[in-house]
Parts: sequence; C-alpha cells; structure tokens
Amino acid sequence: MEKIRDPKVLQDLLAQQRLQGKKVGFVPTMGALHEGHISLVQKSQKENDITVVSIFVNPTQFNQASDFDKYPRTLDDDANLLANYKVDFLFAPEASAIYHDNYNYSVEEKELTQVLCGKARPGHFSGVLTVVLKLIHIVNPTKMYMGEKDYQQLSLIQKMVEAFFIPVEVVGVETKRDEQGLALSSRNKRLSPLGVVKARRFAHILHDAPTVKQAKAELKKEDIEVDYLEELNQRRFGAVFIEGVRLIDNVQR
Ligand code: PAF
Repeated sequence: MEKIRDPKVLQDLLAQQRLQGKKVGFVPTMGALHEGHISLVQKSQKENDITVVSIFVNPTQFNQASDFDKYPRTLDDDANLLANYKVDFLFAPEASAIYHDNYNYSVEEKELTQVLCGKARPGHFSGVLTVVLKLIHIVNPTKMYMGEKDYQQLSLIQKMVEAFFIPVEVVGVETKRDEQGLALSSRNKRLSPLGVVKARRFAHILHDAPTVKQAKAELKKEDIEVDYLEELNQRRFGAVFIEGVRLIDNVQR
C-alpha cells in the first residue's frame, strides 16, 4: 500500500492509472476505521481494479471545536489495517493542502441541508459537500462507496454529483451493526461499556417503536437525550446524545 499526503501527487498517479483503463474505487473516511469501513473497502475491491481510501478529519464539518478535538485519530493503526486488507493507496492529506484556498470556497445546498442533521448541526453538510467535492476531483474515481448509516449525507452527495455533472457513481452500502444491532461508528469508541448498552437500546427503539411519539417516550424512559427523531421519505431518522457523544442511525419504514 502506498501512503500519499500530497493531493497533486495522488491526482497525477491516479490519472495515469485511469489512462491505462483501470477502474478506481474510492472510500472517503475520517479514520478510526471499523468493520463498516472495511465492508466498503471490500465492495470497492470487488468492483474496481484499484482502491483508494482517504483519511482526513475534515475541520469544516464540525460545528463544535470540542467535537473536532475529541474525534478519535488513529492513523497508524488505520494504515496497518488497510495494508492488511491490501488497499492500493491511502490518502492522508494535511488540512493546509486540502484547504489551500484558505477556506474561501464552499458548496451550499438549500433544501435537504435544512432538515434532520442539517438543522441540528448548521454548516455541517456544507463542510461535508465541500471536502467530498475536493476529494472527488483529486481521486477522480469510477465509483465511490459510502455507508447508509449517514443516509442524509449519502443522499446529499448523490444529489451533488448529479447537480454538478460529476461522472462518478456513488454507491450506498448497508449499515454494519454489531451482534446486538448497534450501528458501527467511530464515535462508539468514546462510549463506556454502559454507554454502549444505552446506544444499543437507542438502535432497538429506533427500529422497533411503532410511532415516533412512542420512540421518543421510550428513549426518555431510558434517560437518553434526543437531538431529533423524525420520519422522512419512508425512513425513520434519529440522533441522540449518550455520555456527551452524538450518535445517529436510521431505518427504512
Ligand atoms: O462520513 C465521513 O466519514 C465524512 O463525513 C466524509 C464523507 C469522509 C467527509 O469528511
């Protein structure tokens, strides 16, 4: 596995591979990798000749500095894991290289960013869309792989790609869960064992409660703070705080 920090170097290398007719699969991440990320990597490897994984804790998508500071950073372990899975390129840039425009340019979406996580975390999706647009232009992938746990993010990126005529297929991959139904997330690493038990209760309630009202009542009984819980387009979305950690999940209705 080749580890690359400079966007230009990766861009040129991958352009050569594309000229040779190679299909490039791309998995963008913020690191602290888990089995959910690995399932994206494996799907990419099945469907492409080359797989690129990026690890970049993107400052512009954190609307609270403390959340950015506390985000788990495990680059060496992540790199070893990806090397074991025979990933071709790991792209781990510095913020100054990605935002060499001094944060002067950004992508704004006016509709889907106004609800759910967009409403709860103003500016978050603008940061996500901006960095993903930059990453797509660096990697120029044939296909890009993203988890359905971040369903709103996935939809926004699919719509952005359409809006800007970007020739990449954005593939949504089913959420990976632990044996008790908790959606795998890098943020789970910040929970105590008791927090994990509560997080599993959140997943069960979100999936099983017959109505949104009942789900909220059950979460309150469990002493779980709800950020939002809503249904939209035949899907139920929820965000909660457990031990100060914000967790999200969603399920088709
Ligand atoms: O889902 C994530 O890990 C991030 O939001 C992404 C897509 C890598 C952009 O920073």
